[in-house]
Amino acid sequence: MTEQTPVTDAQATAVPKVPTLPDAQTVTEVQHYTDRLFSFKCTRPASLRFRSGEFVMIGLMGDPHPETGKQKPLLRAYSIASPSWDEELEFYSIKVQDGPLTSKLQHIKPGDQIILRPKPVGTLVHDALIPGKRIWFFATGTGFAPFASLLREPQTYEDYDEVIITHTCREAGELTYGRNIIESLKTDELLNEVIGEGFWKKIKYYPTTTREESAKMGRITDLINSGEAYADLGVEPLCPQNDRAMICGNLAFNLELKDMLEAAGLEEGANSKPAQYVVEKAFLD
Ligand code: A2P
Repeated sequence: MTEQTPVTDAQATAVPKVPTLPDAQTVTEVQHYTDRLFSFKCTRPASLRFRSGEFVMIGLMGDPHPETGKQKPLLRAYSIASPSWDEELEFYSIKVQDGPLTSKLQHIKPGDQIILRPKPVGTLVHDALIPGKRIWFFATGTGFAPFASLLREPQTYEDYDEVIITHTCREAGELTYGRNIIESLKTDELLNEVIGEGFWKKIKYYPTTTREESAKMGRITDLINSGEAYADLGVEPLCPQNDRAMICGNLAFNLELKDMLEAAGLEEGANSKPAQYVVEKAFLD
C-alpha cells in the first residue's frame, strides 16, 4: 500500500492548482468540531472505486531531510467517511498536537493538496456479513468515520430492517460530527428518493459520553452488559439469528466488544468468509 504510484491528475482540469505531489488531491472543505476533531473533503480520483466502509492511505509530504533535503510522504490509514457514490471524498480525523501527521493535517485549508493512495481496503463492508435483520454499528471517537459512509449507503437499508448506531465519546462536543450526519439524512432529497422516503426511520442512534455530562452517560459496553442500552433502545438482546455488527473504535473497545459478541454467539466474518460481525480499529495518529 505504500509504494509510489503515478501522479493522479484526473481533477487537474476542475481545480485551479496543478497537482505537484504523487497522488495529489485538492482539499475542498474543512470543518473543525473540537480542539481534538475535524473533518475535511477533497477531490476524488476519477479511477477510485471503493466499497462504503473501506479505508485508504492519506497524508502529506514530510519535512525535508536535514542533510539531503529529500521529502518522503507521511501516510496513515483513514476510513473514507463519504459513501461510495459520492463525487468527493470525506475524512474525519483526530488532531494530535505532536502527532507526525495530524499536527500538520489539522491546518489544511481548501485549495491545499493531500496525498491519497487510491487503493481502498477494509473489513467493514457489507460483503463480509451474511444476511440478517438488524445491523449494529459500534463506534468510539473517530471510529464513527466508516459508519458515516455506511449510513449514507443505500445497501445498508436494503439489507436490514433496523440500523442501530452507537457512538461513545469522552465529551459531548465529540458527538457533533456523527449527529450532524444522521440529522442530514432526514433532509437528504437524493437519498430519500433513491432509498425510499423516510428510510432514516430505520436508524436508532445511541450516543453516549464518559467524561462529560450528556443525555446518556457511560461506555456502550457497560450499558449493553447491564441491559440498559437494550431497554433505552427498546430492542431485544443481541442474537446470532437476527443481528449483524461492525465495530470501529480504540483497541481496548474493539477487543471488549468482540468478546461480548462472541459470548452472544456471533462469529467474526471477513471478505473471504462472510459471517455475523466484523471489526476494525480506528486509525489514530
Ligand atoms: P473512557 O472515557 O471511559 O475511557 P478515546 O478517546 O480514549 O479513544 O476513547 C473514546 C471513548 O471510548 C471514550 O468515551 C472511552 O471511555 C471509550 N472507551 C475506551 N475504552 C473502552 C472500552 N474498552 N470499552 C468501551 N468504551 C471504551
